[in-house]
Amino acid sequence: MTSDLQQLIQQINHKLEEQQFGEAPKTLYDPIDYIMSLGGKRLRPLLVILAYRLFKEDHEKILDQAIAVEVFHNFTLMHDDIMDQAPLRRGKPTVHKKWSENVAILSGDVMLVKAYDLLLGTDTNLKQVIKDFNTCAAGVCEGQQFDMNFEELPTVSEAEYINMIRLKTAVLLGFSLKLGAMLAGAPENASNALYQFGVDIGIGFQLKDDLLDVYADQEKFGKQVGGDIISNKKTYLLLKALELANTQQAEQLRFWINSTSFNPEEKVEVVKSIYNELGIEELTLNKMNDFFEKGFNGLNKISLDEEKKKPLIEFTNYLINREN
Ligand code: IPE
Ligand code: IPE
Ligand code: MG
Ligand code: MG
Ligand code: MG
Repeated sequence: MTSDLQQLIQQINHKLEEQQFGEAPKTLYDPIDYIMSLGGKRLRPLLVILAYRLFKEDHEKILDQAIAVEVFHNFTLMHDDIMDQAPLRRGKPTVHKKWSENVAILSGDVMLVKAYDLLLGTDTNLKQVIKDFNTCAAGVCEGQQFDMNFEELPTVSEAEYINMIRLKTAVLLGFSLKLGAMLAGAPENASNALYQFGVDIGIGFQLKDDLLDVYADQEKFGKQVGGDIISNKKTYLLLKALELANTQQAEQLRFWINSTSFNPEEKVEVVKSIYNELGIEELTLNKMNDFFEKGFNGLNKISLDEEKKKPLIEFTNYLINREN
């Protein structure tokens, strides 16, 4: 990432460090400080600021709104980790493992409330901001439920998969960009085009997340590698493998998907070797690149000074190449 982007991330982190979410009971608030202090790439608040800066320069004024989306994102992670039974997040034990599921549910709930609090200081388009935020948040819930439902299905279509990741992941990137644009008083066609750009790169981003879940270096990734395989997530990788498998590979995939008691390392190893035999990594990269390409094309069409778009291009290239 360029030093300009890194500087903005530092500003975001300072703002987050200043936040006092609450004191007592500690079991409600400590998990919030914990998850927020574990790092994280801070991509969504960065998008809010980058979109704002396309139109205005004084982004210090909108740091509350920028971190609102980060607090919301971390709330979704806390609950997602319960649903996915994930042991690790950002290289550390997840909140429900360190405390309990009940603690993670309630701390997450109050984080959602805090996200609204941070948005309330908005003096331009407040009603529209809340309305769009609500649409986005309901979309994330819809996507998360599709994701859970799909675990129980033998397979799903590519269109169903893309719709699921659009909802669980991409609409929040879209909203972050639209929020920045709205706060800067941008014309509606520009803020809508930025929303669409965010959705397209957001789909690419989740395809990359699915890939990293199988192929990342555990140390860099900070999450359990192979978690999606263990829980039968209908990722693009698994869908493609089910589609392309020969009789023997299909039988093996079915065996592991239907096993209720198994050695997790063994399951991950077998499924991964089938992915390798079928060239699934490359197919997923191709699909991912299609969506990033779509995003770039959309960005090209927005009538703004080309020079001004450069940070968003840098940002997107970072997403394409990220290792965590
Ligand atoms: C993880 O998001 C959840 C997904 C939508 C894939 P990030 O990869 O942005 O996670 P952090 O915030 O940097 O940890
Ligand atoms: C992320 O999906 C979606 C949300 C958190 C809303 P994942 O379940 O793939 O995210 P990670 O991999 O746990 O970060
Ligand atoms: Mg998860
Ligand atoms: Mg999940
Ligand atoms: Mg994932």
